[in-house]
Amino acid sequence: ESGGQMIPDYKLVPHKGFNLISGIHSPEEVEQIQNWKIRDTDIFVITYPKSGTIWLQQILSLIEVKGDATAINDQLTSERIPWIELMGSEEKFVSAPSPRIRVTHLQYKFMPLGLKKKKGKVIYVARNPKDVLVSYFHFHKYATMLETPKDFDTFFEKFMEGNVYGNCWFEHIKTWYSHKDEMNFLYVTYEDMIKDLWSVVEKVSLFLGKTLTPQQVNKVVEHSTFKNMKDNPWANYQMIPRSLLNHQHGTFLRKGTIGDWKNYFTVAQNERFDRAYQQEMKDVPLSFIWDM
Ligand code: A3P
Repeated sequence: ESGGQMIPDYKLVPHKGFNLISGIHSPEEVEQIQNWKIRDTDIFVITYPKSGTIWLQQILSLIEVKGDATAINDQLTSERIPWIELMGSEEKFVSAPSPRIRVTHLQYKFMPLGLKKKKGKVIYVARNPKDVLVSYFHFHKYATMLETPKDFDTFFEKFMEGNVYGNCWFEHIKTWYSHKDEMNFLYVTYEDMIKDLWSVVEKVSLFLGKTLTPQQVNKVVEHSTFKNMKDNPWANYQMIPRSLLNHQHGTFLRKGTIGDWKNYFTVAQNERFDRAYQQEMKDVPLSFIWDM
């Protein structure tokens, strides 16, 4: 129990090779996602956890209103752009007005079949996996639904085994990316957003068929900087209840940089990670920025 609230008994429970979290996800709900009827206006943001999901939630919310933050600062980004695996009932999806913008950490095999017929749009956001690992380590310390790791080394092992929500990072990105030509698909990286948020916002707007003036792009960028999101309770998850996030043990907008892994990985862990990366990614035409 925490803060007078009952905390459910959260556990990772594999479903078709993918870990769901009991108490939050239901296998039945996840299974029916494939049959959802997709509209051309639907937008799905796909991420492995800790790759900048919240950032895209804020950016897409702002693009919809052409940068006018006053039009969105009355609802949590996570309510406006929910996770399909979290609030995933079909009735909710069917009755939602267009454009339906959703995020998910699910693997490719659970996706609505309509997306593969080039209906709707898919934005895959990737982040270099060493920083993902470090960000995820910190997230485990305050996400109530995830087991608090004993220490960094323990978490490093769990991540390498794919024994986390999201499972194996390599599997997630490789499978989604290899099917990209079946979908209206845009690939963006966290690192590109750090280096040149303006260009990424412009690229995303164009992909969505929204014409924003440079002034409107400026506004979107301004309201989605790390600092402004960290100070914005509608965008920083500080209002997510204690039954999900224990805000005394961490902050969602934690550091927001490239290369924090260097402060955590030992030389041996880094070598091991590099070997795994080279092996797993050898046929994948993607590369990452690992430090600033
Ligand atoms: P860190 O823990 O490295 O700081 P997700 O939403 O997928 O869980 O991703 C969360 C990560 O994205 C956190 O990484 C968070 O700080 C970072 N992030 C979110 N918004 C950001 C922004 N505007 N600029 C930079 N990083 C951001």
